[in-house]
Amino acid sequence: VLLAFAVATLAAAGSIACPPNHPLTDWRPAGPDDDRAPCPMLNALANHGYLPHNGKDIGEETIIHAFGTALNFEKFFSRTLFKNALTTNLNATTFSLANLSRHNILEHDGSLSRGDFYFGDDHSFNQTLFNETRSYWPNANIDPQSAARARQARVNTSNRTNPEFKLDDTGKGNSFGESAAYLLVLGNKTTGIARKSWVEFLFENERLPYELGWERAQEAISLSDFGSMVQRVMDATQSAK
Ligand code: HEM
Ligand code: MG
Repeated sequence: VLLAFAVATLAAAGSIACPPNHPLTDWRPAGPDDDRAPCPMLNALANHGYLPHNGKDIGEETIIHAFGTALNFEKFFSRTLFKNALTTNLNATTFSLANLSRHNILEHDGSLSRGDFYFGDDHSFNQTLFNETRSYWPNANIDPQSAARARQARVNTSNRTNPEFKLDDTGKGNSFGESAAYLLVLGNKTTGIARKSWVEFLFENERLPYELGWERAQEAISLSDFGSMVQRVMDATQSAK
């Protein structure tokens, strides 16, 4: 109660930034019966309550509303992502976060913060693996170049250590998409640059980095913004070779 009072007082005094319509106290980690995904963002949105906290039976309107409210995504972009999610739960109209761990549908080898399926857990956050990723982000900001290096390094490590390593064109596309997604959502669609502390905070806490000063994009994010960012990460990967 005291803490809530202090937060309210400080916010009223304008000394800390509170996200619009979203008190920080709403965040709650997953309990034992809650579904979570191999995706740091969907987990964060479920922890905050933008998605059902149990992570189950998520429908199209729920995704459109959650992505619109929390991330300022255009409807059509959210709809496209939702359709992609449904491929992990065929013949259904909803998906659950656990469905997303089905190997080689959307989930793929060489992730930034999760182990390969071969090693037994393709969905839990893994600090050791994420530390390898982070070591390729040398600056306070992550640009497409360092995003590309980090991604390629994890793919190379998996390729070297996993006897059943596989990353086909679909997997590669998704993998590039995920690096583009954090640049786009935690960074800026024009510059393609994201603050490293915000990205690390999302991965490590599965929580939106409001308390580090992040706010959702002021301008809506579209499917074509996403496509451009994917292209930038792919180009940066090419030019690093
Ligand atoms: C990873 C699904 C939205 C950021 C993943 C993975 C899945 C997934 C299956 C695991 C891939 C792997 O590493 O093997 C989805 C679905 C979404 C969605 C179905 C929408 C319905 C988002 C959004 C962001 C995001 C909006 C924005 C930042 C990421 C990142 C990873 C990831 C950064 C990489 C995690 C890692 O490599 O360790 N997502 N995601 N995702 N997702 Fe999402
Ligand atoms: Mg994976």
